Amino acid sequence: MTVEVSVVILAAGQGTRMRSRLPKVLQPLAGQPLLGHVIATAESLKVNKICLVYGHGGEQVREHFVERDLVWVLQEEQLGTGHAVLQAMPQIDAGHTALILYGDVPLVRPETLASLVSAASDQLAVLTAELDDPTGYGRIIRDSDDHLLAIVEEQDATEEQKALREINTGMMACPADLLAGWLTRIAPDNARSEYYLTDIIRCAVADGANVVAVRTDSVAEALGVNDKMQLAEMERLLRKRTSRALLEQGATLVDPDRFDLRGTLSCGNDVYIDVNVLVEGQVYFGDDVTVGPNCIIRNTSIGPGTRVHANCVIEAATIGGNCEIGPFARMRPGVEMADQSKLGNFVEVKKSRIGSGSKVNHLSYIGDTTIGEKVNVGAGTITCNYDGANKHPTIIGDGAFIGSGVELVAPVEIGPGATIGAGSTITKAVPAGELAIERSRQQIITGWKRPTKGVPKKPEQ
Ligand code: UD1
Ligand code: CA
Repeated sequence: MTVEVSVVILAAGQGTRMRSRLPKVLQPLAGQPLLGHVIATAESLKVNKICLVYGHGGEQVREHFVERDLVWVLQEEQLGTGHAVLQAMPQIDAGHTALILYGDVPLVRPETLASLVSAASDQLAVLTAELDDPTGYGRIIRDSDDHLLAIVEEQDATEEQKALREINTGMMACPADLLAGWLTRIAPDNARSEYYLTDIIRCAVADGANVVAVRTDSVAEALGVNDKMQLAEMERLLRKRTSRALLEQGATLVDPDRFDLRGTLSCGNDVYIDVNVLVEGQVYFGDDVTVGPNCIIRNTSIGPGTRVHANCVIEAATIGGNCEIGPFARMRPGVEMADQSKLGNFVEVKKSRIGSGSKVNHLSYIGDTTIGEKVNVGAGTITCNYDGANKHPTIIGDGAFIGSGVELVAPVEIGPGATIGAGSTITKAVPAGELAIERSRQQIITGWKRPTKGVPKKPEQ
């Protein structure tokens, strides 16, 4: 028989130790709120419902997750973790197994929770871990036969208890009817005058019920975040976890400690990523993609064999195969690069399509532009897409050659095979195959002298 599982996530606390106006559970870890990680893990399990106990910073927390399928439970006053779980009990069917998660313990893995749940079909199961430094956590107290007796919070612990290194991760699973009964019996008679969830262990033991500890060997899974130091430490641990997964899939990370992923990255074979690269959102790298140092790549797909050189910022782009980008290219949202196209140094591109084999190699701004195939855009070319009120398109046909330092004042169309002389400001359509030049004739001013230093000019009377 499989039991139904209802999840309760505790996220009502203020998190004073963060010293931030942002509620603790919204503090970002790898680009996602702490609570987002916990919700995602809960969603990945087969569960009946997910109850979210919220309170401090309530509206902000709700707004963040409005689109998720959650049962919102308000805990008006934060009287402790036991009180928080009690608020959710009316939502939970007595026949279900309740799985309790903490909004500030974000790195627990679904498989660990699955084993916690299966240990709890007819008893209380607590997820524990052994830490080198257990400071701040509830300690697991066992009797001489190793049976779990109680959890003692740091503030209430004796020196002897503080020396224990087995800690309570906070996560528990329990048949809901048993849990409901024990929750009514806890009292705020402790150092923090709070209703401690952890006191249900004592109730269970008093009733002669079984309490089991499921121990995880992964320290990362057990860690809670109470302050910015712990948040930074957790970011480091998560980075290790993501880097390891990528390395196992065969990607090369020149330095796994200097690669950050805030989202998901899927890679083909033989992807090479140099140091200080940040990948955000949903990103795909095809086979043999190389990414140079110091690049930021967000919500982008990059085709096989493309090389992104150092210091590029790329956002919401679709890039074909065997392209070359940068160094120092800035791709703003909405750029499509066809196969074998090139964007060179100090080029900014926005909402444009670069056709196959085309090149924009140096110091350009290209916006709202459609560039055909095998086009060469010379150094310093600018599409003037904005008239102060509206944006207008530029179209450049296949095989056109745009000389250096050209301004293309949109809306404007350059025909296929047309040539634009360097330095021109083009305001009208250029027919296919023609040469357009727009600049004054060069003059020679004979007898002109450069001013010399030291002799100030008198102002004219
Ligand atoms: C808690 C545990 C401790 C455990 C540690 C693991 C208790 C009494 N202590 O301590 O044994 O080792 O977590 O990280 O449970 N919350 C509410 N409502 C409240 C109070 C808290 O929703 O009234 C939420 C918080 O938002 C947080 C979680 O419960 O997500 C834990 O609260 P926190 O105050 O951080 O507990 P710890 O002192 O860390
Ligand atoms: Ca905590």
